[in-house]
Amino acid sequence: MPNSSAATSFPKNQIKVLLLENVHESAHELFRAQGFELETMPRALKEDELVAKLEEGVHILGIRSKTQVTRRALTSGKRLLSVGAFCIGTNQIDLRAANEAGIPVFNAPFSNTRSVAELVIAEIVMLARQLGDRSREVHEGKWRKVATASFEVRGKTLGIIGYGHIGSQVGVLAEAMGMRVLSYDVRTTLPMGNNKAVGSLDALLEASDFVTLHVPETPQTKLMIGGPQLALMKQGSYLVNLSRGTVVDLNALASAVKAKKLGGAALDVYPDEPESNSDGFACEMRGLDNVILTPHIGGSTLEAQESIGREVGASLIKFMNSGATVGSVNFPHVELAPLEGTHRVLNVHKNVPGVLRDINRLVSDRNANVLGQILATDPSIGYLVMDLDKDVANDVRKAIAELSSSIKTRILY
Ligand code: NAI
Repeated sequence: MPNSSAATSFPKNQIKVLLLENVHESAHELFRAQGFELETMPRALKEDELVAKLEEGVHILGIRSKTQVTRRALTSGKRLLSVGAFCIGTNQIDLRAANEAGIPVFNAPFSNTRSVAELVIAEIVMLARQLGDRSREVHEGKWRKVATASFEVRGKTLGIIGYGHIGSQVGVLAEAMGMRVLSYDVRTTLPMGNNKAVGSLDALLEASDFVTLHVPETPQTKLMIGGPQLALMKQGSYLVNLSRGTVVDLNALASAVKAKKLGGAALDVYPDEPESNSDGFACEMRGLDNVILTPHIGGSTLEAQESIGREVGASLIKFMNSGATVGSVNFPHVELAPLEGTHRVLNVHKNVPGVLRDINRLVSDRNANVLGQILATDPSIGYLVMDLDKDVANDVRKAIAELSSSIKTRILY
C-alpha cells in the first residue's frame, strides 16, 4: 500500500491482537511483522473470560472452532474491530451480532482444498485394492492374499460431481494417474487438462467407475445421491463422499453395498456428526465390506492449518490497513485501491435513508473533496470507504462518529 508508511491514526504497536486455541504460528509471524501487539493462548475461552479479555481493549480476535463468540462478547469489546475464524466453519460466532456491531468476520474456506483432494485420490486407490479390509485383516492376524476384485485405477473413469475448488484439483491429480475424468456441475466450468464436463448427473453416474462428490450443502444437494441415482451407477463401481453428510442417502448406499451393486464406498462426512471426539458413533455403513469411514478429516493436515493461519491473518491485516472486507462472511464486500496522498475514512452505519447525504455534507462543510468512495450495503448495515484530498480526516471522523446512524468509524492515514 503506497500510504502504509504515512503516519497512521493509530500506532500499529498499539493494535492488540488476541489469538486463542493455538492458532498456527504462520499467523503470529504476520501480525508481528506488522508491529501489532500479540497475545496468544493455547485454549478456548468461556464467555465470561472472553468478555473480560475483550474489555481490556482487543482490536483483533482470532479463534478456531471452540470459542463461542456470542452477542454479549461482541458488544462488550468496544475496541473490537474484526474477528478471524482460523478454520472453515463460522457457526461458533454470532455473525448477525457481529454484523450489527460493525465487526467483519473472516475465515479460510479454501485453505484445505489440496488436503481433501489428496485424500480422495488415496481413497480411490484404497477402494480399488480393498485396502481397508486387507489392512484390518492383517491387524487381526489373518492372511488373505487375493487379487479378485482388485484393480489398477489407470484407464478407469472418475466422475466428479461439483467441479469447484476441490473437485477440479481432484480432476488434475486423477488424470496424472492415468484416469479418464468426467465432471458435472450446475455452473459452466472450465475443464482442467483433459477433464470433460458432461451435461447431466445421470450421464456422469452411468459412465463412471468411481464417483466422487464435491458439492456444498444446499437444498438442491440434499440427498442428491439416493436409490435411483445408485441404480444408475455401473455394477461394481465405487462412491466417495468427502463433501457434506446430507448429500448421500446412507440407507440406500448401505443397501447398494450389501447387494454388491457397488464395489465399495469411502465416507468422511455424515448426516449426524459428533461435536467432539467420542466413542459409540452410530452409522448404517459400519462393518460393511470395502467401506472406508473416516471422522471428517479430509481437510485436517498441518499444511492446511498453516495455510489457514496465513490466509486469515492476511485478511485481518488487509482489513486493518486498508479497510478491505472482501472475503468476509458477514459484511458487505468493499475494497478501494489506495490512492497516494489521500486520507481514508471508514464508516459502518445502520442502513437507514440519508446517511451518505449526511456524510458528504460533513465532508464538503470542511472544504474537502472526495477522491475515492465505495459504499456497499446489506439489509442491516452500510460500509463506506472514502478517500479525502485534505488532512481533515480526523475532524471528519469525529463528526461522522457523532451521527446517530454511525456504528463504527475510523481513519487510516
Ligand atoms: P466450491 O464452492 O469451490 O465448489 C462446489 C461446486 O459445487 C461449485 O462449483 C458449485 O457450482 C457446485 N455445485 C453446487 N450445487 C451443485 C449441484 N446441485 N450439482 C452439481 N454441482 C453443484 O467448494 P469446495 O471448496 O470445492 O468444497 C466442496 C465441498 O467439500 C463442500 O461441501 C465443503 O463443505 C466440503 N469440504 C469438506 C472437507 C472435509 O474435511 N471433508 C474440507 C473442505 C471442504
